[in-house]
Amino acid sequence: MGVFIALALFLLALYLAYRWSIASYEYFKLRGVPFVKPLPLVGGMFPVLSGTVFIVDCISEGYRRFRASRFSGLFMFRQPAYLIHDPELIKKIAIADFEHFVDHSFKFSTKMDPFLGRSLFFMDGLRVGNDVMTSISFGIDVDSVKDPQNDFFQNGKSFTNTEGIQGFKFFLATMIPEYIFTFLRIRLTPAPVAQFYETIVTCSIKSREEKNVIRPDFIHLLMQARKNILQEDQSDRNLESAGFSTVPEHLQSSTSDLVEWSDLDITAAVASFFFGGIESTTTMLCFTVYEVSLLPEIQAKLHAEIDSVQNNLEDHKLTYESIQKMKYLDMVVSETLRLWPPIGLTNRKCTKDYIMKNNDGTQVTLTKGDIVQIPIQSIHRDSRFFPEPMRFDPERFSDENRHMLNQDAYMPFGLGPRNCVGSRLALMQAKCILYYLFLNFEVQISSRTDVPMQLDKRSMGVNAKNGFWFHLVPRREGV
Ligand code: HEM
Repeated sequence: MGVFIALALFLLALYLAYRWSIASYEYFKLRGVPFVKPLPLVGGMFPVLSGTVFIVDCISEGYRRFRASRFSGLFMFRQPAYLIHDPELIKKIAIADFEHFVDHSFKFSTKMDPFLGRSLFFMDGLRVGNDVMTSISFGIDVDSVKDPQNDFFQNGKSFTNTEGIQGFKFFLATMIPEYIFTFLRIRLTPAPVAQFYETIVTCSIKSREEKNVIRPDFIHLLMQARKNILQEDQSDRNLESAGFSTVPEHLQSSTSDLVEWSDLDITAAVASFFFGGIESTTTMLCFTVYEVSLLPEIQAKLHAEIDSVQNNLEDHKLTYESIQKMKYLDMVVSETLRLWPPIGLTNRKCTKDYIMKNNDGTQVTLTKGDIVQIPIQSIHRDSRFFPEPMRFDPERFSDENRHMLNQDAYMPFGLGPRNCVGSRLALMQAKCILYYLFLNFEVQISSRTDVPMQLDKRSMGVNAKNGFWFHLVPRREGV
């Protein structure tokens, strides 16, 4: 008898667990929104968990399936989320109706991770703009090519690692409720990494204050911000555009709260440079070199432009202005960011009720906490906006052709007040590296690189499964 009761209780528990795991699945049906059918508990995320589909493609699946719809639904585990297909609606959400969506959905509170919770990506509606993020350095020189074991490189790698267990933790953190993370005491930033940055920055702040040292770097700007004496650098006015993809940064805070910056806040802001910048800029560089190495005509044009700029440089020193004038380089980089956006998906969290209308007249009301996903990559690869979307063609961005582009459909750095704060920095950095690379070398693809590209489906970022391999052939003697 006892066995039967135990079995009955077990089956009841199993049944209740099953009911709980599908409890939210009527959400879109009730609202008349087309949606990707979920599996119990994992929702639509099974392909990611099993490593068969890249996370960006998985979350954007509704875009492919429901082409006539302005938006569709998906379940990230049990959590419903809206996928917005229509660039015009995305623009409304991110810009005109920004007050309804001031946050990203992946907010980590300081309770969940004292370090990441303070980083710029995950903060509530606060923005630190232009000057702060474009002046980057910790004020310390390292050479990671000569010394790949240096602490900055190693800790940066651990901090930005989006693979393996660390990647999985990030993946879960974006989807399961915060209290579970806090309860299980799971931290996203490895403690030694957080400790490393905190010690460096805290010591640096202390020593600067004691010795009255001013260094024109990122920490200095944040120290000024803390004292409320940060001013826009006039010289930045000349640096308005680093290329077609540049997005305007927003200096104002979207909340009226005055934020007090502790040393830990400053440390986390400095470290978000690594988090936000390193991986995405590297991805942009790798894919640019990959595409150019496959297309000799494009490489020849790039060589010609770079050679001509180099011949006209005073003292052979590259300047910001000369990079800004390089139209072809900009076209190549813009096209890379279209075809291979390093961040192929962004999101917003609804912070105030919002009504959206679908093409079939259905109307839905989003309430506080609802999540919208913005499928940057799918829009960039949609033939309705970019004909022959899988073809790498920088000419789309030429002076003659760019007026034909639907500018709303091009958003490699996101849009609105929560767009990327590092677009100019990223573009300038990448263009400098590409300039010197193609000035000195002809780049040939190695047979070790997959053509066509095979992405690593288990990675959170856009990575080549088997890496990028090239042959560098010197273009002149002595290189
Ligand atoms: C090619 C390089 C890069 C790409 C493609 C990129 C792309 C993006 C995208 C798509 C977003 C989300 C924007 C949105 O939701 O509207 C974002 C946010 C952000 N990016 Fe970048 N990014 C790059 C480099 C950088 C660099 C170098 C930095 C740091 C200096 C940086 C710092 C940030 C920060 C802090 C945010 C969050 C802004 C906020 O939440 O308000 N990014 N980036």
